[in-house]
Amino acid sequence: MGLGLAALGRPGYINLGHAGDLARDYDVAAMTAHAHAVLDAAWRAGIRYFDAARSYGRAEEFLSGWLRARRIAPGQVAVGSKWGYTYTAGWQVSAERHEIKDHSLPVLRRQIDESRALLGDYLGLYQIHSATLDSGVLDNEEVLAELARLRDGGLVIGLSLSGPNQADTLRRALAIDIGGAPLFRSVQATWNVLAQEAGPALAEAHNRGMGVIVKEALANGRLTDRNDDPAFTERRRLLSAAAAETGVGLDTLALAAVLVQPWADVVLSGAARAEHLASNVAAVALADRRRAWLHDWLRRSRALAEPAEVYWRTRAALAWN
Ligand SMILES: NC(=O)c1ccc[n+]([C@@H]2O[C@H](COP(=O)([O-])OP(=O)(O)OC[C@H]3O[C@@H](n4cnc5c(N)ncnc54)[C@H](OP(=O)(O)O)[C@@H]3O)[C@@H](O)[C@H]2O)c1
Repeated sequence: MGLGLAALGRPGYINLGHAGDLARDYDVAAMTAHAHAVLDAAWRAGIRYFDAARSYGRAEEFLSGWLRARRIAPGQVAVGSKWGYTYTAGWQVSAERHEIKDHSLPVLRRQIDESRALLGDYLGLYQIHSATLDSGVLDNEEVLAELARLRDGGLVIGLSLSGPNQADTLRRALAIDIGGAPLFRSVQATWNVLAQEAGPALAEAHNRGMGVIVKEALANGRLTDRNDDPAFTERRRLLSAAAAETGVGLDTLALAAVLVQPWADVVLSGAARAEHLASNVAAVALADRRRAWLHDWLRRSRALAEPAEVYWRTRAALAWN
């Protein structure tokens, strides 16, 4: 498992219950200490991949400060970040625009310099943040050439995906070779028991040697006890029954269902609290212990999955908090 810092680096995020996680204390020193405490818990739990982005507020700064304070050497840890969105919330929970998407060459050039200034030699993986076919980034020759230059300088180049067309975007990325070698060696995509469409494309990517990182394994908290949406009551009952059968909480069950996918190389926890992180990490043991049962349960529970359009519309309606 890896730890994502989307919920740790800034006051506002869309995850259910985010405001409560931070106890509404947005003082920078308090948020730094909070992020470092969760990072310490992750390190103790054996997590060695950390995921940030330029647009996650101060996430790169918090991560870099923690790595240096704990004297963790670059070779002991894997660090990924992303470019393509600029943070514009001004350290507020409510903002007119939280982030601005721009996949152009000037933004890539500015943001790689910013990421490197903070993360230095720790930065190993640099991802396009939420690439889509519409954004045109995979057809932008200038951007692709710059990414190839960064690859040739030693970075692993990846892309993250978002929206109902993750599979098409990934297949397009898989076809991009520059200088006789694939440009993208890593993909970060959403897959969870509610959103399973990207599975076959992720299996293809994994089989072709791409690293597969899974994000939003808990559907931004919708697959936890926090989801009290009346429209989810029946599915929550099914999930709770399965969780009770295995003696764990909903989050542990849902993460274990991702961990047993043969193509999932790294599954991210998005926890912003140490106790949730511990409950998330328990999924590793559950996946080992109940692998066959989990596959069988997923086969029996196909009704949990939502059509991609419904899933992404629901996600888009989650409130920043
Ligand atoms: N386009 C992209 O590239 C993109 C998009 C989204 C995410 N990501 C990456 O993926 C990472 C993970 O995504 P995510 O944050 O959306 O993760 P997620 O795993 O889908 O959701 C995390 C949410 O579940 C809650 N949770 C976890 N365990 C819980 C428990 N036992 N009880 C109650 N609530 C629980 C967390 O609450 P607490 O905060 O209270 O722990 C948090 O609100 C991000 O940090 C980021 O690095 C990338």
